Amino acid sequence: MANPLSESEQIAAIDIDATTLADPAILAHPNAFYKAIRTRDPIHFDKQLNMYLVSRYEDLQTVFRDPLTFSVKKGFKAQYAQGFQEELKARLERDAGGFFEEAIMTDPPEHTRVRRLLDGAFTAHRVKTLEPEIVAICSEVIEHLLDRGEAEIFSDFAVPITSAIICKQLGVDLPSETVQRWALAFTNQISRMTTREDFEGLAADLVELQRFIIEQINDRKAARREDMISDLVHARTDDEANPALSFGETVGLCRALLIAGNETTATALTAMFFILATQPEVARQLSENVDDDRFVTRFVEEVLRIDPPVRGITRMTTQEVEVGGVLLPAGAHLLLLYASANDDEKEFPAPREFNIERSNLGRHFAFGGGVHRCAASALARMELKVAAREIVRRMSDIRLAIPLDEIRYQPTLATHTISNLELTFSRRHLS
Ligand code: HEM
Repeated sequence: MANPLSESEQIAAIDIDATTLADPAILAHPNAFYKAIRTRDPIHFDKQLNMYLVSRYEDLQTVFRDPLTFSVKKGFKAQYAQGFQEELKARLERDAGGFFEEAIMTDPPEHTRVRRLLDGAFTAHRVKTLEPEIVAICSEVIEHLLDRGEAEIFSDFAVPITSAIICKQLGVDLPSETVQRWALAFTNQISRMTTREDFEGLAADLVELQRFIIEQINDRKAARREDMISDLVHARTDDEANPALSFGETVGLCRALLIAGNETTATALTAMFFILATQPEVARQLSENVDDDRFVTRFVEEVLRIDPPVRGITRMTTQEVEVGGVLLPAGAHLLLLYASANDDEKEFPAPREFNIERSNLGRHFAFGGGVHRCAASALARMELKVAAREIVRRMSDIRLAIPLDEIRYQPTLATHTISNLELTFSRRHLS
């Protein structure tokens, strides 16, 4: 039955102080809550999370401009393996060659040097040269699914594609199930949802992941190959005192690339399929304009705006500072809600409408902003564009196989990921 309240009445009815973003029902369908805090308390303190939720577009711009006051390093540490930090550290030291912090989850000037070395490695493996391989990977996975006519998109489509691409780029050979298991362990570790029961399995997965990465790095030290791990191992800057990545930094970066490259893009691919399955008019337009590069680019940008894979990332204030009219103390733990900024009606009018004609389409924060803006946005965009084209060229009648209200989302703060996108489809016959 339709809700008899208007949208603004529904928003006004939300008791924001009695609600937490950690509630799985809010995590799954957060937009009304985002709007409630954006309009009533834009730097909202969520008591259960013990974090300030930064929800407006303009306030995120303020944060992005000042990476020293809004520290990634401190924010990340505050969220890391909550309650199990020391145990995890000891386990990695004992079983996996050491404890290596995330080299990219740092602040300038430390971050600036590492980011320059990372950007250099991405440039060396120019995205464009990967395109034919991405097309081949997508078409192979889609052809396999077409034989069945049905699939659960996150596991059967999105994860195999993204893990194959990142493995190809890094130069490693791993089954997608393994990458997925490691990625989940890594995300759980930083998403504050870890329980004591989870910890044991999670630590074992993280040990296995790190041992694998170290083995790969040692192989590249012995003999350079044509891949991104080799480029990172041998990367140099003109910083005379500190020209190369340390061993620990290289481990941290390779690990981050394997994980970040997987979960985020898989989430975006799943969201894209969800839109095609639930908005047939959008699917029709995309298939009619599939050879128009501008159209496909805009379609992908609007997918990223309307349902950004990364919901939010943390920062911690290093000094007292004012944001959006609120004075925050030093040591305040923030969650930058990229998803809420993308939904901010001041920046994107009628934000819940999928509209590829928006004049400011590319100004979304799906890839963050400032010095920590996604290092691989060009690669991610390319993957999404190739997948969009291959999907509508090869598939038609894409439909949900389960009722809309049975769609489930992973209960994580970090991403907004559908976990059971069951679809049916048929082979498109070329006329
Ligand atoms: C659609 C896919 C993707 C989305 C939505 C996404 C989103 C993001 C966001 C929001 C950030 C900013 C974090 C912050 O503000 O602290 C980020 C950073 C990062 N992303 Fe992505 N990402 C995607 C794909 C990828 C891929 C494919 C890779 C690697 C192969 C990657 C590697 C990274 C790295 C290394 C950073 C850290 C950059 C820094 O702190 O300097 N991402 N990403």
